[in-house]
Amino acid sequence: MGSLSVSRRDVLKVSTLGAAALALPFERVARAKTASKIAENKIPRPYTLPFKVPPVIDGRGGGTITIAQKMQNAVILPGVQTPIFGYNGITPGPTILARRGTPLSVAVSNELPAKHPNWGYEAWTSVHLHGSASKPQFDGYASDITRVGQTKTYQFPNNQESRTLWYHDHGVHHTAENAYMGLAAMYLMSDELEDRLPIPKGSYDLPVVIADKMFAANGSLMYDDEGHSGLYGDVMLVNGQPWPNLKVAKRKYRFRILNASLSRGLRLQLSNSAPMTVIATDGGLMPKPQTTVQLRVGMAERYEVVIDFAQYAPGTKIQLRNLGVPNSRDFDNTDKVMQFEVTADAFDAANNAVADADGNLNPDNEIMKLDETTVPGIKTVKLDLHRSNSTWKVNNTTWDDIVKSNYQTVVANPQPDEVQIWEITNKSGGWFHPTHIHLVDFKILSRNGKPPFNYELGPKDVAYVGENETVRLITKFAHQTGRYMIHCHNLPHEDHDMMTQFRVGTDNADNDPITSAPAGPIGATGGVTVIPVVNTSTPATPTATPTAVPTPAATTATPAPAATTTTRRRR
Ligand code: C2O
Ligand code: CU
Ligand code: CU
Repeated sequence: MGSLSVSRRDVLKVSTLGAAALALPFERVARAKTASKIAENKIPRPYTLPFKVPPVIDGRGGGTITIAQKMQNAVILPGVQTPIFGYNGITPGPTILARRGTPLSVAVSNELPAKHPNWGYEAWTSVHLHGSASKPQFDGYASDITRVGQTKTYQFPNNQESRTLWYHDHGVHHTAENAYMGLAAMYLMSDELEDRLPIPKGSYDLPVVIADKMFAANGSLMYDDEGHSGLYGDVMLVNGQPWPNLKVAKRKYRFRILNASLSRGLRLQLSNSAPMTVIATDGGLMPKPQTTVQLRVGMAERYEVVIDFAQYAPGTKIQLRNLGVPNSRDFDNTDKVMQFEVTADAFDAANNAVADADGNLNPDNEIMKLDETTVPGIKTVKLDLHRSNSTWKVNNTTWDDIVKSNYQTVVANPQPDEVQIWEITNKSGGWFHPTHIHLVDFKILSRNGKPPFNYELGPKDVAYVGENETVRLITKFAHQTGRYMIHCHNLPHEDHDMMTQFRVGTDNADNDPITSAPAGPIGATGGVTVIPVVNTSTPATPTATPTAVPTPAATTATPAPAATTTTRRRR
């Protein structure tokens, strides 16, 4: 917010008094340049604060990690206290490291206030590990809630390729507020293929969690989703820090970009228009790296990008800009994300490549090899995304319809390991819907009949379904059976109520998303069913000494009844 910015009040003043304003279309004049109500001098100037990295919990050795969801004050704007909801009281929460082949349990307690202090709702939660083929009862099923004072132990199988996952809240009808308050964090799963590749590692491999926020006069977060259409903040955070500056050495860096915004789509470009090399998508390493100047990142999409700073003189400053996407609301500084400042610092020259010697990353990724022409009788499932009666719907149904069916209605019922085509259509010109399918990775085949962007040529679990677009994808329903959600990752859309589900195979006592592993009271020895973790393989990771992994608590007992989820209603 520099001295040139125009406050909402100033805009209104100009629009009534100034002739200059009359030259602008009404919409432009009425649109505020900032969304926050806090004094402008409390908002830092872009690129003045240092880049931050969230703390790490090393779960690569397996066992059980304990995490408490708590409200705590954070300093996001310098000198300003902002109450947030955080995993362990911080946002983004701790980055969890995991290892392929080593399951991990995460016991999450809900120690949030019984009522949100400003917005009044009960902060029930459900933890989703986005990108994981978890069992339904550990997948953050929206209606499988953990109420304030309860705890639930999630079992994460870590049975897929290395990738950038993230865990975030998914509590029914309050996912958007809970995630916006801060319940989001990274989870990085590594494997031997990734270890072998000479791509940037260690301190040259950094999370970039981008989210927009707006601040009330007293420093608390403001929430306005404009009638459930979307929330657009004016302050861009990277790993919880507004528009940070990162000092870099003259070498390659790997940035794990996650768009954790509720509603803001991003179109990223470096200020000098240098190409970026995309090496991984939502579901991990691409078959081959792809270069691009612009990178569109819808909500919940992950792209791992290598940027090479070798060619720049020390002192060079390059900004990561956001050129914006249609139907996102822009403010003065939402076109800025962060800055890289090249230094003359000494660096480790190892792992300074974007692929192996043959130019490959993960050429044998099973999903990327799927070919519809080789699957006899392949089925096509069609999903139509639209809004009617001010409610967002998938195939004309809402999550409330799923609830009313006692969670039985599904849009598809593939058999285990079945390969299907899904066609997702958005006939509206006014909205885009980044659509997420739980459980699976998929390959995008086409968008309105045309090939996807080159940087989408990797395994995905979110497809940006743009205005008037149909996205066609192919996927395989592997790893688990049971019921899983599909929804728009514009979280106000998801909460109201653009979410449905599918069933893989059949339901059984060990895959019910609500009754198979319900939450129980914190501190009780009963009420929490813990299925023992079985290590399916022993990882040979030289650096994988777990540091923060307590041994599992011996908790067993009768599951509590399926609680009150059926009586819950939208606000
Ligand atoms: Cu990232 Cu169902 O969510
Ligand atoms: Cu997910
Ligand atoms: Cu949407």
